[in-house]
Amino acid sequence: MSANIAEMERRRAAARAGGGQKRIDAQHAKGKLTARERLSILLDEGSFEEVGMYVEHNCVDFGMPDTVIPGDGVVTGSGTINGRLVYVYAQDFTVFGGAVSERHAMKICKIMDAAMKVGAPVIGLNDSGGARIQEGVASLGGYTEIFQRNVLASGVVPQLSLIMGPCAGGAVYSPAMTDFIFMVKDSSYMFVTGPDVVKTVTNEIVTQEELGGAVTHSTKTSVADLALENDIEALLTARDLIDYLPLSNRSFAHGGGVPERPSSDPYDRIEESLDTLIPANANQPYDMHEVVRKVLDEGEFFEIQPGHAANIIVGFGRVEGRTVGVVANQPMVLAGVLDINASKKAARFVRFCDAFDIPILTFVDVPGFLPGTAQEYGGIIKHGAKLLFAYAEATVPKITVITRKAYGGAYCVMSSKHLRGDLNYSWPTGEIAVMGAKGAVEIIFRQDLGDPEKIAERTAEYEDRFANPFVAASKGFIDEVIHPRNTRRRIALGLRKLRNKQLANPWKKHDNIPL
Ligand code: HXC
Repeated sequence: MSANIAEMERRRAAARAGGGQKRIDAQHAKGKLTARERLSILLDEGSFEEVGMYVEHNCVDFGMPDTVIPGDGVVTGSGTINGRLVYVYAQDFTVFGGAVSERHAMKICKIMDAAMKVGAPVIGLNDSGGARIQEGVASLGGYTEIFQRNVLASGVVPQLSLIMGPCAGGAVYSPAMTDFIFMVKDSSYMFVTGPDVVKTVTNEIVTQEELGGAVTHSTKTSVADLALENDIEALLTARDLIDYLPLSNRSFAHGGGVPERPSSDPYDRIEESLDTLIPANANQPYDMHEVVRKVLDEGEFFEIQPGHAANIIVGFGRVEGRTVGVVANQPMVLAGVLDINASKKAARFVRFCDAFDIPILTFVDVPGFLPGTAQEYGGIIKHGAKLLFAYAEATVPKITVITRKAYGGAYCVMSSKHLRGDLNYSWPTGEIAVMGAKGAVEIIFRQDLGDPEKIAERTAEYEDRFANPFVAASKGFIDEVIHPRNTRRRIALGLRKLRNKQLANPWKKHDNIPL
């Protein structure tokens, strides 16, 4: 018996050694942690339970039978984050460069299947040279099995990808289909074809970092949600995000549903400073983050994609200890206008919240959609429609607060009453109209354009009539005009009432969102 146990321990030690000390040192020299070190930071201490430690590749070509490393380049299993179950895989770059073989893929698929069965998030730590070259199509098949599961798991369990090393070629498409991607600065990159191929095909000279580094993807492309300084920051931030998320879309089973944590922040905390936040001049900006933080528990806000399309803010917070998703126009950036990038960013976020039963709070100060050929040729019609579509199909509790402008189509889109907003509030500073007074007067009183006095009079008249929330409130499109200082209390009470909201869309196989 003891000999058997000794053999098991020997094999375990061999698996834990990965690709050997030399390769582990090389990994550390690049500022990267090993797969197991990463898991020890990501998961609660002592909670990791490994499966598949003895799995070996089955490749018989290119001398591979002589090079067998147990575990085959990926560490898989489950553990807890603040006591809540998650499934994990961590690619081990010290073993064949973390390259994906048929068996390596099979291990990942196994934990994805388990996660879907029990209803728990999947977190992938990616650090891989891509398809295991020696295996050819067997590796491609393995990748595709993972892709298939990414899609089946989408909307069932949250999926989070941390990119902590290379991720190139078709390999990028697994993270791309997960809900959130975090990248580590300077040591991770994602691209479909690398700098050498780019140079050959298009003659462009570009570094790996410029082409697909963490900064590029968290600012320009929006492929990544966050860029973190190093492995440790990325892993700790992943823990924070998981704390906000339900474990699955099965609301009441296995710890599903929106997580709750005790909060000592009073639900009716008065924020007098909000009464004076809106500047007297309608063209002057203010920081919408201030509104968001003052409404949420303890001012804590987990922002998603802060570096991309900053004219809209999205992220998670809590009210009375329960997770909410926040979408807010940001007047500090491009006056809070809706453009292509902002629409796509917010639409994806709204759909995530709806899929996982997370109530949505929307703060509105939007002058409309951004005009111009760049936007029209870029398809603002199609991309703006994504946000409209996302809000319209969402059945989770939706509470909207208009702080200032809600003009034109953007009024309709931003979780308006007409899109089944449950509670639509406006501050007294709300301005709800088809467009701003100046533009409106120039169109409907074109004949007076030569007479500045008349135009000024008409503008004042238009402002009087529409630069307020009361016309909309008189029609029932705004449920109540509220004191800014009471916003948190109104939202908290609203969320309490809406906790058992039931609303279903008509049966369909799936919708056809304008992609
Ligand atoms: C097998 C691989 C490998 C791969 C790396 N290794 N990539 N083994 N298949 N794809 C091995 C190396 O042989 C080496 O083994 C070890 O991993 C570390 O690699 P290095 O090159 O020494 O590391 P580094 O200098 O840091 O460079 C990392 C790298 C480079 C940039 C990732 O290894 C590289 O370019 N690899 C090939 C990438 C690639 O073309 N992959 C296929 C892409 S197509 P030893 O024994 O020396 O330690 C693809 C399609 C997916 O992935 C499609 C899905 C549908």
